[in-house]
Amino acid sequence: MASWLFIAAIFAAANAQSNRNDGPRFLSRGHSFRTVVGDTLLLPCQVQNLGSLVLLWRRGPAVLTAASLMVTRDERFRLVDGYNLQITDVGPQDAGDYVCQISDRVARDQVHTVEVLVPPSVRPSPESRHAAARRGGAAVLECRASGNPVPTVTWHKLNDTSTRLGEGPQLQLSRLERQHSGRYACTVDNGVGPAIVTEFQLQVLFPPEITVERSWVHTGEGFRAELLCTVLADPPSEVLWYQNSFPLSASERVTMSVRGNNHTLLIANVQPEDFGNYTCVADNSLGRARQHVEVSGRPGPARFTSPPLARAPTSYTLAFAVDSYPPLDELRLLYRQLAINESFQQPGRWHDVVIPAPEPTGSLTHRVSHELKGLEPGAVYEAIVQAKNRYGWNEVSDIFQFHTLGGAHSVHANELSPMFSSASQIRLTFSLLVCSLYAFG
Ligand SMILES: *[C@@H]1O[C@H](CO)[C@@H](O)[C@H](O)[C@H]1NC(C)=O
Ligand SMILES: *[C@@H]1O[C@H](CO)[C@@H](O)[C@H](O)[C@H]1NC(C)=O
Ligand SMILES: *[C@@H]1O[C@H](CO)[C@@H](O)[C@H](O)[C@H]1NC(C)=O
Ligand SMILES: *[C@@H]1O[C@H](CO)[C@@H](O)[C@H](O)[C@H]1NC(C)=O
Repeated sequence: MASWLFIAAIFAAANAQSNRNDGPRFLSRGHSFRTVVGDTLLLPCQVQNLGSLVLLWRRGPAVLTAASLMVTRDERFRLVDGYNLQITDVGPQDAGDYVCQISDRVARDQVHTVEVLVPPSVRPSPESRHAAARRGGAAVLECRASGNPVPTVTWHKLNDTSTRLGEGPQLQLSRLERQHSGRYACTVDNGVGPAIVTEFQLQVLFPPEITVERSWVHTGEGFRAELLCTVLADPPSEVLWYQNSFPLSASERVTMSVRGNNHTLLIANVQPEDFGNYTCVADNSLGRARQHVEVSGRPGPARFTSPPLARAPTSYTLAFAVDSYPPLDELRLLYRQLAINESFQQPGRWHDVVIPAPEPTGSLTHRVSHELKGLEPGAVYEAIVQAKNRYGWNEVSDIFQFHTLGGAHSVHANELSPMFSSASQIRLTFSLLVCSLYAFG
């Protein structure tokens, strides 16, 4: 109160003297100032010939200083070197117009405009920065940003730098898939101070999924067998192993191990009772999955190793490999001609050949080659192979196709094509092309 009375008194004195001499004049000029929160700002006000007039600093209707008197109680304000107004520790609330005013009758003044730049700040939602949703569902991540100027918000998935997911405070993710799981980040930037990066963790929950690389494992007595189930699940699943529907537990010969998503069952020194059907079962709160792996002593399926194009017109050496720990007892080959000729596009009849078992070599893989004779020139054949050891016959091999050289006329692939499945057609087209080049080249 006392200070107001004082100001009033000064005004009265000033008015009385205002129309004397050549009058006061501003030496400084009005400016726009941009400052950053926390900085110290100096607003100049230099006047000539002030005489006994009084200089006021105002901000809006509020008087900050009068002559050398601090009217405001805010201790951050100070007059330095005369009437320059210093504001320390500038805050966003300090933005606005500051008027340095000479208190004569014509109220001359000078205006400084202060803009306060505020570095970005962010309020993430969810606050925990962890979101979880079921597969197929949706999730919203949010970065509410403030600052001056208004910051931009951009979204990325971490370790996936190629994709910028969007702009704006909200990232909406819907129809969530397993691969949407991971770390996300919003970057909030307004050019004032460093940008703020806020990380989120998104967890997509799904029931277990199991893949088995081999659903059939060949082994032999005294050898080992390794079964692998790769399990994906979130929340993480519990994985149990069964043999012929009985739960398995670890023993001297049986060990279960986990490496990442890989669940391995290792049977050392296989005994006759170890052959059979194994199951891995994975459980989490959202569901259960199972896969079967058969452990067998029977030979593995034959893998063909000969090229699809014969070296001769009427014979072909078929070569294949079979895995078996015990010696092979018997081998069986079936083959037939496809498409007899252009007008008669039916496959020929199957030829059934018993191949003598190769001499035991002591190694797991048995290599067999067998020459087929009396073939048609320029014809396509298909073959399948089966092998037997003391545990029984293996599964029939995949169908293998080969082509004999030459012939009276070349067969065109597209004329044959209706007979073949698309996968074998590609292979056949290729081999026929090679053959035509060879025949006409
Ligand atoms: C993912 O990115 C972060 C930094 O963004 C890096 O530190 C980390 O090594 C990356 N991880 C992988 C697996 O690339
Ligand atoms: C899991 O098994 C697969 C297939 O054998 C292999 O490629 C992968 O490296 C294994 N992962 C771990 C973590 O062992
Ligand atoms: C293994 O057992 C499962 C169910 O018990 C069955 O569906 C599957 O056909 C069996 N596989 C073999 C090779 O016996
Ligand atoms: C195609 O083969 C069938 C059956 O062997 C035969 O009867 C027919 O004469 C052949 N046609 C041609 C054009 O070679």
